[in-house]
Amino acid sequence: VKADLRSTLLEINKTAAKYFYAQLKSNRGETAYRYLTGRALSDETITAFGLGYSSKYSDDLYRYLRSKGYTEDQIRQAGLINTDEKNGVYDKFWNRVMFPIMDVNSRVIGFGGRVMGDGKPKYLNSPETMIFDKSRNLYGLNRARTSRKPYFLVCEGYMDVIALHQAGFTNAVASLGTALTSGHASLIKRYVQEVYLTYDSDDAGTRAALRAVPILKEAGITTRVIRMDPYKDPDEFIKNLGAEAFEERIGKARNGFMFSLETLSKNYDLNTPEGKTDFLKEAARRLGTFEEELERNNYIEAVAKEYQVDMGSLKKLVSKTAIQDG
Ligand code: GTP
Ligand code: MN
Ligand code: MN
Ligand code: MN
Ligand code: MN
Repeated sequence: VKADLRSTLLEINKTAAKYFYAQLKSNRGETAYRYLTGRALSDETITAFGLGYSSKYSDDLYRYLRSKGYTEDQIRQAGLINTDEKNGVYDKFWNRVMFPIMDVNSRVIGFGGRVMGDGKPKYLNSPETMIFDKSRNLYGLNRARTSRKPYFLVCEGYMDVIALHQAGFTNAVASLGTALTSGHASLIKRYVQEVYLTYDSDDAGTRAALRAVPILKEAGITTRVIRMDPYKDPDEFIKNLGAEAFEERIGKARNGFMFSLETLSKNYDLNTPEGKTDFLKEAARRLGTFEEELERNNYIEAVAKEYQVDMGSLKKLVSKTAIQDG
């Protein structure tokens, strides 16, 4: 019975995705379609990602799904409706551009919906359901898995993934409005051993990258970090500077550990002996987490070089710190 319900929920989501897509292509969807083309998406891209539109009529999708024979309870379990005493049953997504979220086998498991202006929330996502686990799925993975690159570009948003794919970077994926989890890391590990983080250039994006580095490392994935400045995110970067400039940034990506240290260093005044010492103590503590001697020594060498400190002293500091911690 549980397996039956799962396949019904998948069917409902697929039906909804087709409905949203048809709405986008109809007269009703004109504003939404113009919104998407205004964001530089081609027809081909819109179709490839199955983008759609949820209309202004508050129970449009609900009535459509009922007409297809699904029950109120099934539609609720698919995460597509809400109920309250005053309004009864109404669609969760209302007057938004719709991004179907697919699992690795291209089955629709949920949606993200974006307002077309400055309304809040900017994005509304399907709730977690029996078929939608946010920490075990990645947006774009169904397409990225067949890209021949040995690494994934991991970014923040739906639009980033879509813009990157459209520009030829078909190895881009995004976590679904949540932080990257170890579940995501093990999912990624099935396909690639290396990740290039292309998060937003704001503080939130930097913090997200800092948190992601150790999670990926734990799963045995090497991380590099790509900076998007002076633009906000990959979507805007590509729109302004194009694919070649993005390719250059890939080439200049920083090693995840060195990126973390660089970010850390901004909390210290490296021009004073005490500031530099405090920073190096923390750097040594982190260097001590590399269990393999060769790898640890390579990082010690890189840090010594970058922060202009004697390698022998740094090595001693790392050993000392490791003994104290243990
Ligand atoms: P655009 O403004 O359309 O370019 O989106 P963005 O992806 O650049 O947005 P942002 O960097 O603010 O957010 C990154 C991702 O976080 C989005 O793609 C969503 O998945 C998620 N997100 C953003 N805003 C919200 C929100 O208001 N609610 C929820 N639940 N998720 C959000
Ligand atoms: Mn936001
Ligand atoms: Mn952001
Ligand atoms: Mn954006
Ligand atoms: Mn963004």
